[in-house]
Formats: sequence, structure tokens, C-alpha cells
Amino acid sequence: MGRCLYDAAVNPTPTKLTTTKLTTAKPPLSKLRRRLRRTLPDARLDINSLPGCRGLKLALINADYPQGPLHPDVMRAVIHQPAYWSFCWGSGLALAQHLLAGKEEVRDKTVLDLGSGSGVAGIAAAMAGAQRVIACDIDPDACLATAVNAELNGVAIDVIQSLDQLHRPVDLVLLADVLYDRANFGLIDLAKNAGTRVLIADSRIRELSRDDFTPFAEREARTLPNLGEFDEFRVVRFFESRQ
Ligand SMILES: C[S@@+](CC[C@H](N)C(=O)[O-])C[C@H]1O[C@@H](n2cnc3c(N)ncnc32)[C@H](O)[C@@H]1O
Repeated sequence: MGRCLYDAAVNPTPTKLTTTKLTTAKPPLSKLRRRLRRTLPDARLDINSLPGCRGLKLALINADYPQGPLHPDVMRAVIHQPAYWSFCWGSGLALAQHLLAGKEEVRDKTVLDLGSGSGVAGIAAAMAGAQRVIACDIDPDACLATAVNAELNGVAIDVIQSLDQLHRPVDLVLLADVLYDRANFGLIDLAKNAGTRVLIADSRIRELSRDDFTPFAEREARTLPNLGEFDEFRVVRFFESRQ
């Protein structure tokens, strides 16, 4: 029996930072669709309005994509290049709802969405009035997805593929659903170096075991489209860095 899309998505290979140029172009949805089909030839991208997010829209993999075992070639492609950006992860959705409900003051602030994927958290920050939003993702396809989705929502986001391209600290760093792999925990310190305040939203960790972060809220949210994740991943926990 083969592994399904969910297995591949939640058991990724460790990642490391690379450097590329700042992305300023506004690429079309068709280009993003072609990127998705490199790994999942039968997949589509559908435009989805997110619940509780003031009309925030994202181009996401079609909800009726088969959940069964994948062909081994497709499986290999997914493991090699998982299209995380084609999902809105539960933690990103919860963080977007949190920002758009005005629970975190972002107005006139510079915000970094680190591990942006679809760009959901950064787009929400921009819609909530952030002065400038920068999205950073190690995956060039995620950078493209963030740019396309920002365009879909009529907000401006600067997209970078490495923190080396961030030239001055930001006011707030958002980390949504990036702690799915122990290898990514180093991102927490990189986030602290990159900004004055760090906000983590994550459904995969119950506690951070760091005394420089405090848990302060929880919210229920599911990944879109529904990956059939275990119920234990429905609760998204929020942690804030201590001042
Ligand atoms: C599970 S997705 C979450 C995406 C989005 N924040 C959300 O909540 O929907 C995790 C993202 O973190 C990115 N990522 C992993 N390691 C990274 C690193 N070292 N630097 C930047 N992004 C990274 C992945 O490429 C992926 O797009």
C-alpha cells in the first residue's frame, strides 16, 4: 500500500536556508498551476475564501483530490518537492483569523511571515493594516504562491527566499505551522533575531519548553482542503515571545 498525500505532507525531509533574489514580479495563476502539476499531474488549483477571514482568498489544491495511495512516481515527486503552499494549514488559518479579528495590533507595523507557504498569515497581516509585509519561504514555489495569492487579495507583499535578504529587523515575525519537523526549531531563534516580537501558531506542538515564549491563546482550525489530519491537530496554540 502506497503512502498518501497527507503522509508525504506531514513527514517532510529536513530543510535548510538558501539565498536567491528578491521576487518583485506579479506572476499569473497559470504558472502556479504548472508548478503544482510538476508534482501532482492531476491536481487543480481552486480559489477558496477562507472562513472567518474577511474574504481572504487563496489558490489551493482541489478539495476532491483523491486521498488514497499515490502512484510511486507521484509519491517520489511529492516527497522531493512537497507543495505545502497548496494547502492553507490549520495554524495559518487560525493565525489569519486572529489577526483579522484585531487580536494583535499590526497597524503600521512591519511584519515578516516566515515559512509563508500560501502566504496566508502575511496576507492577513496586510489586510489588517500592516505597513509592510515580507514573506519568506525556502521553497521557490511557495514564494510564487505567496505572490499570486497576495495579488488575488489586492495586497502588496515582498517575497524573499532567505532571511539573508532581510536587511533590517521587523516589528513582528509570524511563524505558522513551521514546527512540524525538529529540524525547523532553529527558525525560532532566527525569527527572534529578525524581529522585535515573534508570534508562533502551531497545532503540532503542545508546549515549546522555552522560557522566552509564553502560550497565550488557542483556536480550533483545520487545514484546507481537509487532509483528514488527526483530531489532535485541530487545536492551534499561540505562543508569544517575552518582551
Ligand atoms: C506547513 S507549511 C505552512 C505554511 C503557512 N505558514 C500556513 O500556515 O499555511 C510550512 C512552510 O514552511 C516552509 N519552510 C520550511 N523550512 C523553512 C526555512 N528554513 N525557511 C523558510 N521557510 C521554511 C516550507 O517550505 C513551507 O512552505
